[in-house]
Amino acid sequence: MQQASIQQGAAPYPGRETVQVSPVPSLLESAEGPSTPQMLILSCPSKLRLLEGTLRRRLPNTLQVYGTVKTINRGNPTAQEVLVDSWPEFKVVLTRPRREVVSDDSDLYTNTYTVYYQDLGAYHAMLGSAGAVNWGQNFRILGLQDGVYEVCKDIAEAKGIKLEVVRYFTYFHPDPSSMPEIRLDPTVRLSSLDVSHADLLNEMWQLGGNEKSRKYLASLIRHFPSVCLLDAAGHPVSWIASYPFGAMGPGYTLPQHRRRGYMGMLNNLLAKQLHALGYPSYGYVAMENDPMQRLQETQGFQRQPNLWYFILHNPAPAKAPTLTPSPAPGTAPP
Ligand SMILES: CC(C)(COP(=O)(O)OP(=O)(O)OC[C@H]1O[C@@H](n2cnc3c(N)ncnc32)[C@H](O)[C@@H]1OP(=O)(O)O)[C@@H](O)C(=O)NCCC(=O)NCCS
Repeated sequence: MQQASIQQGAAPYPGRETVQVSPVPSLLESAEGPSTPQMLILSCPSKLRLLEGTLRRRLPNTLQVYGTVKTINRGNPTAQEVLVDSWPEFKVVLTRPRREVVSDDSDLYTNTYTVYYQDLGAYHAMLGSAGAVNWGQNFRILGLQDGVYEVCKDIAEAKGIKLEVVRYFTYFHPDPSSMPEIRLDPTVRLSSLDVSHADLLNEMWQLGGNEKSRKYLASLIRHFPSVCLLDAAGHPVSWIASYPFGAMGPGYTLPQHRRRGYMGMLNNLLAKQLHALGYPSYGYVAMENDPMQRLQETQGFQRQPNLWYFILHNPAPAKAPTLTPSPAPGTAPP
């Protein structure tokens, strides 16, 4: 048996930004009148670090927003920005990709917002203000608090926009360093994902199968930690990546390699890797995915009382689960 070593999946991020707190211009010019609350794009590095510390103290309610701010403070490889209702006291934090990043209005994957609020009224005011959300685009809004979806739905309905919501279980590990050490099966080799694996991930991901999802997965592989197990020919048989908001996923084991403990090992290793980088170790699991729920619980992940809300505007239809896919070249079991 070989000893598993944790590989560093992502290099330090280049290109730190140095911009200041600034009002959102379109809000100041809003047609919604003087009652429109002023919102700030928080982009000063020292203020973003302060925000990160405050959000950390409020985990796990702040998981997705904290993960995104952490990513911004590590070099912001996916060009996210932070909106707050006021500073230094804030009642709402909304993260979104910078406008110039979402060049394609139909790119639901890149166009991901995360939200945390302390005051539902302030959240309503921010979301309803011109300029906070581009309602003309496809998007996903992620949040963990009751009310996140209701407020969004309320505002969307007033605009004649239809949203969908998917609820997941949220799992969070309070101390990944306490997870047991992993011993690897000698028939597989531990590695991190490579961009050349994006096609395989895209084929197997339930939300994948199109060019936008392929590009998104390639970006995850390029910028964020991941782990995988390679067979003797060097092809991935099991993998798990991580998202710009710090959550673990998507994870997958090829059907012919399941029930050998592979995802258990990778989940353990990635949780530790993210923890070492200062991210919380967490993820979301579909309510009907019993194997993944059992796996999380066996490993000491705690199911959170709060559900994870994925609020979707114009989602692509999800693929049916791939139960018996034809093996990718070279991945067939011996
Ligand atoms: C869920 C999935 C990743 C598990 O991968 P895996 O490599 O087979 O997982 P492991 O072998 O490490 O098994 C982990 C646990 O799940 C159980 N398990 C795995 N597959 C199972 C199945 N089909 N039915 C019941 N239990 C199952 C194992 O018995 C094990 O339980 P234990 O810890 O009590 O022994 C894999 O089935 C898969 O890729 N499914 C489709 C994609 C998916 O659901 N991804 C996760 C999204 S959150």
